[in-house]
Amino acid sequence: MNEPTPLVIANLKANKTWEEMSLWSDTVGKSESAKNFAGTIVVCPSAPFLKSLQQKLGSDQLPFKLGSQDISKFDQGAFTGEVAASQLQKICQFTIIGHSERRQNFKEDDSTLTEKVTRTSEANLEPIYCVQGADTFIPAGVSMVAYEPVFAIGTGTPDTPTNAFAVAGEIKKIGDYIVIYGGSVTAGNVHSFLQKGTIDGVLVGTASLDPEGFIKVIENAIY
Ligand code: PGA
Repeated sequence: MNEPTPLVIANLKANKTWEEMSLWSDTVGKSESAKNFAGTIVVCPSAPFLKSLQQKLGSDQLPFKLGSQDISKFDQGAFTGEVAASQLQKICQFTIIGHSERRQNFKEDDSTLTEKVTRTSEANLEPIYCVQGADTFIPAGVSMVAYEPVFAIGTGTPDTPTNAFAVAGEIKKIGDYIVIYGGSVTAGNVHSFLQKGTIDGVLVGTASLDPEGFIKVIENAIY
């Protein structure tokens, strides 16, 4: 991962129509805060919007990188409904793997997630690998880990920065990972979770949905 930090990653989940996503991108991407941001903004929209957003980033010069919210564990083939990593290779740079919503709702286990990481390596996508703590298995080939405690996701109750730093430290003892934090990050608390070399970014769900609110997250995303 050679992008400047801090990373601010918007996980929009299964939200927004294309019209809304397009407006979101214009509002955030044309803001002075996004244009002047010293780190890297990664936008992870629903899969159908990735290609159109890629074109928009190019034509409108919006200062984002793109990520998918998931990929298939399979490569291209007879897998109805799936999106293969190799299909995204030239469209986005990052992909979220192992989000707790996928682990819970789609029963994704370590073996499935390991296959997904292998697909990302083959397709030169950078996995953002979500874990719930330092004891979550991390497959080989991962360099960026998102610490996302389940109790903090979408609840409005984030972890404490002190505990998040401690967990990030434990994760870094396991491997040479870039660690980011996710779970009820807001414009008000984002700064408290960033510490250069310990937590180098945030994964933002709810607080990314409103473009004006997300601009404030970007503004406050300073070490
Ligand atoms: P949240 O979601 O910001 O709404 O807690 C974070 C995430 O799921 O990545």
